[in-house]
Amino acid sequence: MRTRLGRAELPNPVLAASGCAGAGREVAHFMDVARLGALVSKSIMAEPWTGNPPPRLAETPSGLLNAVGLQGPGIDAFLRRDLPWLLSRGARVVVSIAGQIVREYAGLAARLSDAAGVTAIEVNLSCPNAEDAGRMFAADAQAAGAVVAAVRASARHDVPVFAKLSPDVTDIVALARACVAAGADGLSLINTPLGMAVDPVTMRPALAGGYGGLSGPAIRPIAVRCVWQVREALPDVPIVGTGGVRSGRDALEMLLAGASAVGVGTAIVHDPSACARVLRELEESLSALGADRVGDVVGGAHRPRPARRGPGPGGAT
Ligand SMILES: Cc1cc2nc3c(=O)[nH]c(=O)nc-3n(C[C@H](O)[C@H](O)[C@H](O)COP(=O)(O)O)c2cc1C
Repeated sequence: MRTRLGRAELPNPVLAASGCAGAGREVAHFMDVARLGALVSKSIMAEPWTGNPPPRLAETPSGLLNAVGLQGPGIDAFLRRDLPWLLSRGARVVVSIAGQIVREYAGLAARLSDAAGVTAIEVNLSCPNAEDAGRMFAADAQAAGAVVAAVRASARHDVPVFAKLSPDVTDIVALARACVAAGADGLSLINTPLGMAVDPVTMRPALAGGYGGLSGPAIRPIAVRCVWQVREALPDVPIVGTGGVRSGRDALEMLLAGASAVGVGTAIVHDPSACARVLRELEESLSALGADRVGDVVGGAHRPRPARRGPGPGGAT
């Protein structure tokens, strides 16, 4: 079940996605965190932050809307308290970082370069750029590239840097290319697309902030499409495929589309041991296919087949 994310080798491809397993203690009551391919931390910022006001979660058909915001203890407490705890439990830790200006991301990467035991850095680009009227870094190839270049320059050379992209763009491949050109060792696809629900009883938005990120099975086809498109354009760049995965079959789909590892997020919210189950089911699916290694199926859906292909010149509709 081993897989590679650039220079990092993981014992298996099932990751707990950022923001859905906190810093590990919450899920440790339900599963051994050392069994995860890796735990991706909740995005860490330079300073502690309480996140957005409630209500900040709303259920939707096959999905979850969240506007939690980047609630967290800040980098100092993470390095002092959370990272050592995770490492003491034998977990591999991908540290997700977030900022409001390029310099803040670079500062976080520099702090992490002094810490031992970081498997990889995931750069959460779905954050408002304070220097561009709050436009999301992930919406602009130049801004995303600037963040990635600054992080790559500040991070330890042996720690892979993964750029996490948003599907809320016209051309995800352009964003992926910009991040790779800026030095990203891999890509995480996808963060949550924006969505909104209005409560017909209160006649107000269901989330205090109005809109939020949509996650869960509802977005899996979007995530699979993004992974597919980026794999097609950049076949040598490792991808973490995240979005709506809740079973081994879903994880296999993501691998076939081109991911080398799979993030499980919202599924953890209603089943904190979901990652262990997804891994077990994926092992069963792979052996049913007669695949000896994860690598045997990664990108498998891109192999040409003689029969009909996807939508023709008329597009998808
Ligand atoms: C409650 C919640 C908090 C999240 N927090 C973060 C975060 O801090 N950083 C980040 O990059 N993604 C965050 N995400 C996005 C997930 O990591 C993941 O990309 C997304 O939810 C899609 O996967 P899923 O459908 O399996 O949840 C969060 C998602 C949820 C539901």
